[in-house]
Amino acid sequence: MKTVLVVFGTRPEAIKMAPVVRELRSRAEAFHTVVCVTGQHRQMLDQVLSAFSITPEYDLAIMAEQQTLAEMTSRVLIGVDDVLAKEKPDVVLVHGDTTTSFAAALAAFYRQIPVGHVEAGLRTSNMHSPWPEEFNRCAIDLHSDMYFAPTNQARDNLLAEGKPASAILVTGNTAIDALLQTTRAEYSNTNLRWAEDSRLILITAHRRENQGAPMHRMFRAIRRVLEEHPNVKAIYPIHLNPEVRRIAHQELDGLDRFRMIEPLDVVDFHNFMAASHLILTDSGGIQEEAPSLGKPVLVMRETTERPEGIAAGTCELVGTDEDVIYNQFTELLDSPQRYEAMANASNPFGDGHAAARIVDALMPGEQHKGAHGQFA
Ligand code: UD1
Ligand code: UDP
Repeated sequence: MKTVLVVFGTRPEAIKMAPVVRELRSRAEAFHTVVCVTGQHRQMLDQVLSAFSITPEYDLAIMAEQQTLAEMTSRVLIGVDDVLAKEKPDVVLVHGDTTTSFAAALAAFYRQIPVGHVEAGLRTSNMHSPWPEEFNRCAIDLHSDMYFAPTNQARDNLLAEGKPASAILVTGNTAIDALLQTTRAEYSNTNLRWAEDSRLILITAHRRENQGAPMHRMFRAIRRVLEEHPNVKAIYPIHLNPEVRRIAHQELDGLDRFRMIEPLDVVDFHNFMAASHLILTDSGGIQEEAPSLGKPVLVMRETTERPEGIAAGTCELVGTDEDVIYNQFTELLDSPQRYEAMANASNPFGDGHAAARIVDALMPGEQHKGAHGQFA
């Protein structure tokens, strides 16, 4: 029997760790599974816990209004260290690139407990974009024992950094596992009924490095395009970050055929994606989900660590310049050829069985020794 501590704290981590928790818990003869949420997000995390019926054993409840990176890091480090002292897990699983993941992995490193990194190996090679996520994922990978890489590209990034091939497993992305549980043909919702007579644009934005001038430019471009296109409607389930909300209200209030709504729970959001015409976002996870659904995405960021969506033709990196976003968004609405070229469903991120592969590798007696020989 192995004790596995799974730590996560934000909405996207929770969505992508939920299939792993489910798989671990279904193998109760092999694993004692302990879930620790940091509560880096509160309401947006709770929406996911409720959607996937996960009751955590520990909730560190660290969130504060407009929290700083240093505050979060120190609270997670101390909080997770207490849990490690009590549970003495055989392995700690963290996900991706958030402050929760970085600090939880560091706490495990300090206690010399092996770390498995789910969604390892994503890179932009620009330490400031996305910020601070590129640092977080590189720092976790410096000392992880097992790398669960979602794609071959992620594996190659790790190999190029000298990580041992024996410690890397290409699994697919657990986002696809989650997506297969949420989308439904018979889904219905009042906001979708409102948009039924038009092409629906779905918008999200939250990145720290975009807050300030880039986000003003993004929203101004969106406003101009929506004002010029009477045959589209847009829905923006807005992140709870007060700074994002301030900028969005300043730039988008009063716009016709536009609804700013509270964050959707994951089941609703995935079905809104499925019903949409196209998506504008600076999100990471949405770049993984949209190709499966065949929904074109304009990625309002300077860099992406998910080149697979671009290579598949579904995602396009448009940066944060107002005129570039305006031109690209306009063209995608006005050119059926351009739209069709992007709207092909393809799935570069896996087959929906990533969680099973991860948990198979963790099974007691498995031969994966990990980067430092202490994983099995
Ligand atoms: C965090 C992650 C980012 C990830 C994003 C997903 C870091 C540094 N950033 O960024 O990588 O892409 O989550 O959404 O780890 N808030 C609430 N309720 C919530 C969630 C947030 O009120 O449920 C507000 C709080 O005022 C909080 C602020 O939003 O202080 C920012 O949250 P934070 O987790 O620091 O940053 P995100 O932009 O959400
Ligand atoms: N999402 C959600 N509700 C929303 C907006 C997004 O459930 O209102 C989901 C989305 O499907 C994806 C994840 O949240 O799985 C992305 O989270 P976010 O954009 O906050 O973070 P990132 O992926 O950029 O780290």
